[in-house]
Amino acid sequence: MKNIAVLVSGGGTNLQALIDAEAAGKIENGAIRLVVSSNPDAYALGRAAKAGIPSVVLRRRDFDSADDYGAALAAILEEYGIGLVVLAGFMTVLPDSLCRRYENRIINVHPSLIPSFCGAGYYGLRVHEAALAKGVKVTGATVHFVSEVVDGGAIIAQKAVEVEDGDTPEILQRRVMEQAEWLLLPQAVSDFCAGRLHVDGAWVARK
Ligand code: GAR
Repeated sequence: MKNIAVLVSGGGTNLQALIDAEAAGKIENGAIRLVVSSNPDAYALGRAAKAGIPSVVLRRRDFDSADDYGAALAAILEEYGIGLVVLAGFMTVLPDSLCRRYENRIINVHPSLIPSFCGAGYYGLRVHEAALAKGVKVTGATVHFVSEVVDGGAIIAQKAVEVEDGDTPEILQRRVMEQAEWLLLPQAVSDFCAGRLHVDGAWVARK
């Protein structure tokens, strides 16, 4: 059984999708044991409490350096025996040291089809604002392993979502969540915990 930590910063709808999937028996061989929030006011913390999952708040500004932040986070992950870290709307960039230590054991969900609209500065609603500004007809979501390069790790799964006439960033964000993120993320977490994901360079095979 893999112990899962979910890292959040905001609303936590992806955390909720994972909680619901686990309750429905759809996370094979995995259990959410811990929620870590970078923001003490995150709505996601209430979702964790309601589901009976312990949570910890770890604010970047309480640490002198990214490495100190990463070390504190690593200590907590060790304490809970965490085997998979899921970034579910986690808005703090993890230090290289932590990315290396947990290589191919950290999964992130990003609200675009990587390599479009990703990297530094592309997070949350900004991603959808950029997609609409470009006028793309198709966007989507990507679930990938986390490497030292922001949004640059091996891609696990992607799903396309149509952009429609009159979309606002908020409307598009919601559609991408409903049609892609909330489906892809629990599936990828289950596949990881069940040992079905095999990384070969940039390619992730699902067997
Ligand atoms: C989600 O759309 C997620 O893909 C995005 O933030 C939102 C969090 O929503 N993450 C990023 O942009 C990371 N680069 P949630 O708190 O309701 O899950």
